[in-house]
Amino acid sequence: MQKTLRLVALFLLIFNIAQAQSPDKIIPLPSSFELTKGTYKFDGEPKIKVKYVKNDCPEGYYMKISPKGITIQASSETGVFYAEQSLRQMTRNGRITELQCCEINDYPRFSYRGMHFDVSRHFRSLDFLKKQVDAMAAFKMNRMHLHLTDGAGWRLQIDAYPRLTSYAAWRPYEKWTDWAENKGYAEEGSGRAFGGYYTKDEMRELIAYAHERHIEVIPEIEMPGHNEEVMAAYPELGCTAGECGDFCVGKEKTFEFLETVLSEVIELFPSEYIHIGGDEAGKGNWKKCPDCQARMRAEGLDNVDELQSYMIERISRFVESKGRKIIGWDEILEGGLAPGATVMSWRGISGGIAAMNMHHDVIMCPGSHCYLDYTQDAPFREPASIGGYLPLAKVYSYEPVSDDMPKDGLHYLKGVQANLWAEYIPTEAHAEYMYWPRAIAIAEIGWSRKEDRNYENFRERVLPVLDLMHEEGYNTFDLANEYGERKLSLTGISHMGKGAKVTYNQPINPNYKGAGEGTLTDGIAGGWANGDGRWQGFLTDLDVTIDLGEVKPVHYVGATFMHITGTWIYMPQYAEIYVSTDGREFKKIATAYNDVAMNCPGLILKIFDTVCNEEARYIRYTARNKSIDGGWIFIDEIVIN
Ligand code: ACM
Ligand code: ZN
Repeated sequence: MQKTLRLVALFLLIFNIAQAQSPDKIIPLPSSFELTKGTYKFDGEPKIKVKYVKNDCPEGYYMKISPKGITIQASSETGVFYAEQSLRQMTRNGRITELQCCEINDYPRFSYRGMHFDVSRHFRSLDFLKKQVDAMAAFKMNRMHLHLTDGAGWRLQIDAYPRLTSYAAWRPYEKWTDWAENKGYAEEGSGRAFGGYYTKDEMRELIAYAHERHIEVIPEIEMPGHNEEVMAAYPELGCTAGECGDFCVGKEKTFEFLETVLSEVIELFPSEYIHIGGDEAGKGNWKKCPDCQARMRAEGLDNVDELQSYMIERISRFVESKGRKIIGWDEILEGGLAPGATVMSWRGISGGIAAMNMHHDVIMCPGSHCYLDYTQDAPFREPASIGGYLPLAKVYSYEPVSDDMPKDGLHYLKGVQANLWAEYIPTEAHAEYMYWPRAIAIAEIGWSRKEDRNYENFRERVLPVLDLMHEEGYNTFDLANEYGERKLSLTGISHMGKGAKVTYNQPINPNYKGAGEGTLTDGIAGGWANGDGRWQGFLTDLDVTIDLGEVKPVHYVGATFMHITGTWIYMPQYAEIYVSTDGREFKKIATAYNDVAMNCPGLILKIFDTVCNEEARYIRYTARNKSIDGGWIFIDEIVIN
């Protein structure tokens, strides 16, 4: 604390800007404050009295600013630290030397306010992580979740298994996108070895740095899937039935490995939680592997979901025997939830709600609002990303408590987290850009009262904070010049085919049916996100017939398609347009070809259309989906004039 106050005092000497600042600018917005008479002017060090009081709110604080000085009351150093953060914001890091007198009573809505760092897909330096810790602390965030292991690289020294860092931490391709196409690993120090790992000493340094700022670092060690790098270094840990990124759950060697790794991890990290991943395991090989099958028979497990559950439960017991708790992604619900496990709900909120109903703690981070790897502005102005559209306003609109949660179980909802998966984020500057300011919105959601939250007010408070962060060397998003949603999606499209009946010659995919059968002629264009309810997605070819009701002159037929490699959405190979007067005999009038390469990064919209001079009642529009197995085509409107 002394160090922070000295820093504030130093700033005060340099920037003596007289302008009374009030607490309504603080982010996250304090729980309550009252303006009182007068201002407190100071030069040099502000007078601060700290008093420790006993209450049951370890992160809360009371701060009184009077014309004579500042009094802070809190029950813990964390509370005092958070009062200092509020003060730093009020003085704009020392630039302002006159404060509006007030009393602030402040405490968090949720105890867990986290940020997630995917250091596997692209390794990040210790300096980068410390810099983000500084920003997190300023906004009263208290959990740094490190995704330390994944197919793209193992990032933590483990003494018992040196190949994890001498080999599995390195790859011959710097960018994840190149690596994902070609795969492979490299020996540390060899000519083309990109990546890296944290030594235990480095990790201790980060943990201590974060601890000084009241942030707990939570390690994530992935299992049973996302482990291609482990299998490359120690192939004996996979199933015998072939290569994949899942651990073999049948072999005792797997548990020996995981318990040894976790023992070293638990010794290193003092965190309450150990994250064990649990997401997106393939499980396919388990069905064929004799060891996995033998395990299932021996344990009376009916399916591979239960086999995964067996593993997570066994690991959970091990972690608990060391005095810690596990967190897992919401897939750990499948096949039965391990006793004591905390669930991180990412595939929407239903996993979290199910866990709450089962009396388990939950951290909410639904992809729809908390996945900061989605594009935050118009894609034509943004770096390539995994896709989606998640502007600051949408992040901020997230309300963690929903009506379908158990009313008497809301205490299981421990908090929120901003996640940033880094497949498409090769540089640290880019990562920073994706976090800030959206992570600040998550910070406020986690701390402030729901009824006080208002996006316009938040935006006004954030803009000057971003200027300050920029001065301090953070590469923040340029919120002041945000472009926003696709304009056409806001204005709508007026055209002759609007409202016409659409017959689907190939069924609509139930997962992406947009607004139903009228979607393609409702005059509503999709926005930047394929999941916004205005786009329709097809795993098959698209084949629809539109009935204009009567024969009419037709001069134009066109449709926009979406491309996002990150979510396997590709342009059709070509679109064909047919016309008919009677609905039986169709004449092909155009073929429109694709010219967007499948591996083209980012979000691209392209119109497949034709101008024509026809008389028609029926328009048949087809689009050839010939990308890859499981690849989608997405379309929002067929425009006819
Ligand atoms: C996740 O996004 N696979 C947790
Ligand atoms: Zn197996």
